[in-house]
Amino acid sequence: MHEVFPDSAEVRNGRLFVGGCDTAELAERFGTPLIVFDKGTFTARARAFASALAAEQIFYAGKSFCCVAVCELVRDLGLGLDVCTGGELATAVAAGFPPERIIFHGNNKSAGELRAARDSGVGRIVVDSFVEIDRLVEESVATKILVRITPGVEAHTHEFVQTGQEDSKFGFTVAGGIALDALRKALEVPGCKVVGVHAHIGSQIFELAAFDLAVKRIALFLDEAREELGFEAHELNLGGGFGIAHTGDEMTLDPDEVVARVRGAVEREFETHRLPVPATFFEPGRAMVGAAGVTLYRVGTVKRIPGVRTYVSVDGGMSDNIRPALYGARYEAVLANRMSAAPGPRVSVAGKHCESGDLLIRDVHLPDDVAPGDLLCVPATGAYTYAMASNYNRVPRPPVVMVENGRATEIVARETHLDLLRLDRRADGSTL
Ligand code: LLP
Repeated sequence: MHEVFPDSAEVRNGRLFVGGCDTAELAERFGTPLIVFDKGTFTARARAFASALAAEQIFYAGKSFCCVAVCELVRDLGLGLDVCTGGELATAVAAGFPPERIIFHGNNKSAGELRAARDSGVGRIVVDSFVEIDRLVEESVATKILVRITPGVEAHTHEFVQTGQEDSKFGFTVAGGIALDALRKALEVPGCKVVGVHAHIGSQIFELAAFDLAVKRIALFLDEAREELGFEAHELNLGGGFGIAHTGDEMTLDPDEVVARVRGAVEREFETHRLPVPATFFEPGRAMVGAAGVTLYRVGTVKRIPGVRTYVSVDGGMSDNIRPALYGARYEAVLANRMSAAPGPRVSVAGKHCESGDLLIRDVHLPDDVAPGDLLCVPATGAYTYAMASNYNRVPRPPVVMVENGRATEIVARETHLDLLRLDRRADGSTL
C-alpha cells in the first residue's frame, strides 16, 4: 500500500489489516476513536536512521508521541531520546530509559525541570537562553551541554513549525554576536562541559537545501567561536524536521539520503573552514512515528447538502487531531471495513466538536454510499496527534494499541469521563 500507511498494512477480504490485525476487530474490541500503532513500522524507521549513522547519534523526538511503551521501544533499540518538558522526562524515567542517552530541550526550562534533569542524570541539556545559563549554575547542574543557535534559515514549512529563522523564541541568534556571548557564558558554567551546538530549523521539511544553508552558517559561527574563544565543537546536533507523506501526492524523505546529504554538507563546510568535523546528531520525531500510526473512527452521521457538500461526521475530531485546524494539515481516509468499495465524489470528514472548524479532512473521495457504522481510517497520524490531544468539549482521549504479528496490546488506555471528573472539585472546594 502507499507509504502513508504502516508497512504492515494490507487488505484481506476487503478489510484493512495493520500489524496482522483486522482493524474492524480492533475497533470492536477497543472502541473508537482508536489509534493503532504499528510496532514494525516504528522499529524499521528507527533502525533506518540508526544504520544511516549510529544509534547513539539519533535521539527520537519524544514530543511527536511520548508514552512509556514507546520510550521502552526506543530504549531497547539503543537510540537516544529528546525530551522537552518535565512530563516527558518523567515518562522516560518511568520507562527506565538510560538517563545518559536523554537530551533535554526547551526555551523555558524551569528550575524544577533542571533539578529533575540533574537528579535523574540526564546526559545532555540544550541551553536555550541566558536565564537558563544562570539557572544551571544556581541548581548546580553538572552535565554535557549544547548551545542552541538560530542560524537565520527559513525552512519552507508552515510558519508555526519554523524555528531556524532569526525571529524565533528558540535559541540564540547568530546575528549580532548573541550566540557567541551565550557560548562564552556557557563555557563558564562550573561542572558543565559544552560539547557542541544545536540547531533545529523546523518540522515537515522537504527542501533539504535548508539544512545545507544551516550547516554553512553554523560552520561560519564555529569558525568565529574558535577565533574568539578557542572553542571546538565535538557534537553538532541538527534536530529533526524530515518531512513525511500524509497524502498520496506527497513523498517521505529517505533517512539514508537525508543523513548522507547533511553529513556531506557538514564535512564540506567544516573542512572549508579547517575546523575538525564534529559528530552529527539528529532528532527525528515525525519521520520515525508518523507512518506508524493510523486512527480509526466510526462514522456517526452523513449529511448531504445537494450541490454543496457532504459531511461525514466521525466520533473524534480536533481533540485527537488538532493538526488540520491548526496547520491546515491534509490527510487521506479510507473505509477500513470495505476497502474494495469504489471511491465516489469528494466529501468532507467532520469531527464531533462544537466548532465549524472541526474538519479532519476537507476533501476526500469516499464510497458514494458511505453510511453510519462505517469504519474510517486516517493514516499517517502517528505523530503530533495523541501528543497534542486535548479534552475539548470534555471528550476523553482515545486509547493507543500497539499491533504486531496479529497481536494487539493496549499501550495507552482510553480516558473515561471519570478520569476527566477526577480533577474537578465542587464550588466549595470539596471532592466529588
Ligand atoms: N528537535 C527539536 C528541538 C524540535 O523542536 C523538534 C520538533 C524535533 C526535534 C522533531 O521534529 P520532527 O522530526 O518531528 O519534525 N506540532 C507540529 C510539529 C512541531 C515540531 C516541534 N519541534 C506538527 O504537528 O506539525
